[in-house]
Amino acid sequence: MEFYEAVNNRKTIRDFENETIPEEILERIISAAFKAPTNDHMRDWHYIIVRDRDTAYRLLDIIPKGISVEDMEALIRDWNLNDSIQQECYRNAVPKQYRMLLDASAVIIPLLKQKTDILHPDNISHLNGFASIWCSIENIFLAATAEGYGCNLRIPLGDEEEYARGVLGFPEDYFMPCFIGIGRPKNDTAPVKQKEISIKERIHWDKF
Ligand SMILES: Cc1cc2nc3c(=O)[nH]c(=O)nc-3n(C[C@H](O)[C@H](O)[C@H](O)COP(=O)(O)O)c2cc1C
Repeated sequence: MEFYEAVNNRKTIRDFENETIPEEILERIISAAFKAPTNDHMRDWHYIIVRDRDTAYRLLDIIPKGISVEDMEALIRDWNLNDSIQQECYRNAVPKQYRMLLDASAVIIPLLKQKTDILHPDNISHLNGFASIWCSIENIFLAATAEGYGCNLRIPLGDEEEYARGVLGFPEDYFMPCFIGIGRPKNDTAPVKQKEISIKERIHWDKF
């Protein structure tokens, strides 16, 4: 797939076909992750690929299994989400947080070695490792798209990271930025409408 085609086709996928992804394709996708830029030249990243169903059930058990319509609407009010397209994105995403990962062919857990307290950085460069692994995550998404698959992601909330550490056994000095679900996009599910951006309004030549 041509580069701009992959960029344009990448969408967050939360509904999957029931399909196994061959190991060599997963390896190709992860090797794309290791082509991302890196702040300290070390690429001290690891990716746990969970394919085993029992492990996936245990790993994801901590994630809320759904949300009532009333709670969803309260959340939209509490978060002051006033844009109708943005509201629809949340109405689609929030109830699917558990199933979008459980129904994926695999759950990928990226890990970065974090040397300082990521929640209390002294300066912005202390977040460089975090920024770098997000570059690798976008490479995963684009490579998955080029291979005909799709991805979603969830930011771990509350105790979800520590819980995942217990289930998957990754070391204390590795930090998990997100869960990634990967699989074949379900045929009959349209992507969620996104806000249209006027590129000309967002590019500023020489001065804001
Ligand atoms: C930093 C970041 C955090 C996100 N957190 C979540 C999340 O916790 N759960 C989720 O379902 N999607 C999450 N998303 C995906 C967004 O909902 C999605 O990218 C957005 O709606 C744009 O849609 P698109 O990816 O199809 O273009 C996150 C995306 C980013 C970049």
